[in-house]
Amino acid sequence: MTTALPCDSGAQYDCAYDLSQANTMALACVADTVVTFRDEGQLYSFMASYEENSDANCPLFVLSGGSNVLLPKQLQAIVLRPHMRGITLTDQNQDYVDIEVMAGENWHDLVLYTVSQGWYGLENLALIPGLTGAAPVQNIGAYGVQLEDCLQYVRAYHLPTKTWHRLSAADCEFGYRDSLFKRAPNTWLISRVGFRLHTDATKVLASYGDVQKVAQRFAEQQGRQQLAPVDVMHAIIDIRQQKLPDPKQLPNCGSFFQNPIISQRQFTSLQTAYPDIVGYPMQGAMVKVAAGWLIEQAGLKGSGIEPIMTHQQQALVLTNHRPYQATQADVIAAQNHIINCIYKKFEITLSREPVWVNSDATVGHGEHEI
Ligand code: EPU
Repeated sequence: MTTALPCDSGAQYDCAYDLSQANTMALACVADTVVTFRDEGQLYSFMASYEENSDANCPLFVLSGGSNVLLPKQLQAIVLRPHMRGITLTDQNQDYVDIEVMAGENWHDLVLYTVSQGWYGLENLALIPGLTGAAPVQNIGAYGVQLEDCLQYVRAYHLPTKTWHRLSAADCEFGYRDSLFKRAPNTWLISRVGFRLHTDATKVLASYGDVQKVAQRFAEQQGRQQLAPVDVMHAIIDIRQQKLPDPKQLPNCGSFFQNPIISQRQFTSLQTAYPDIVGYPMQGAMVKVAAGWLIEQAGLKGSGIEPIMTHQQQALVLTNHRPYQATQADVIAAQNHIINCIYKKFEITLSREPVWVNSDATVGHGEHEI
């Protein structure tokens, strides 16, 4: 499809653009057109003239850091990339600082920067790949913290009505790996994220897994008795580097499946057969089960269907061993194989975590049927 686009918005336009290096799973993907924005004015100008253009029926698709998407071989869409940069201190007192971060800021660099400034709250979310603008979409979470714990608001452009909105944390309707933005694909373009961070260097959350033990080692190296947020951050970087593959070395999109939530009743019955099963109690007599544990117990750790394999150190992560060549078809073969094996063994149906994108920019196919 050809697209005659308004090129006077100041944004960067690229046609027949290869996105295989712009998604961390390194799936082969060519998009009709990619528009990269460096400021909100460029987006505004682009949208103002988009509908006046004769090819405006070409769908829009928002792509951020590409770390949680499964892209099609051909993406017949205008891909919008919000690459606005900047971090602004908007308010502070002796207990907290408020900052506003533009969507194009690299997430991990933001975590390093805030901790270096003595602004705390994001340290448990260190080393998560991607850009800040995508973080609210799946409410990124790790080591006992979710984005919603520090997020104050999101400034976003509503594509269907071409209007700007400031959404509070409540407006974002966050859930486990979920938000309003995730449930309404191709609707919002997140431009800025506001955070409230604290300045109490004694307040840390290190109760998850090995974090306390590893953080203690970092603290001792610095001659500190008490854990500081910087120790927790270094511990989490260390633990993630041990267990999770670096997408630059071995392409992946983080956890491929969500941890399934099952009834306490089903969990108890599974416990009889598998006393080591890992589960976390939830509200309403439900239990969240570690999908990585299920996959490992099913004998699938380090296996899959070539070239898409589960990772040796963390079975929940699917890795692409044929970067820039493997396609969605390869992913679906491995995904369905794993889902089938887990269902046969545990009667639990795993759900995919990253967003599946179709050629026409709609999302959500590639579903599994048992
Ligand atoms: N486990 C296994 N085998 C495996 C993997 C895990 O037995 O191959 C067991 C572990 O021993 C542990 C339990 O499963 O007892 C949980 O494992 P882990 O602490 O690694 O966390 P997870 O539940 O597998 C979640 C997030 C990760 C996040 C970690 C740490 C989801 C879907 N994933 O993984 O997020 O880093 O907790 O907080 O909730 C991501 O979203 O991309 C991601 C990596």
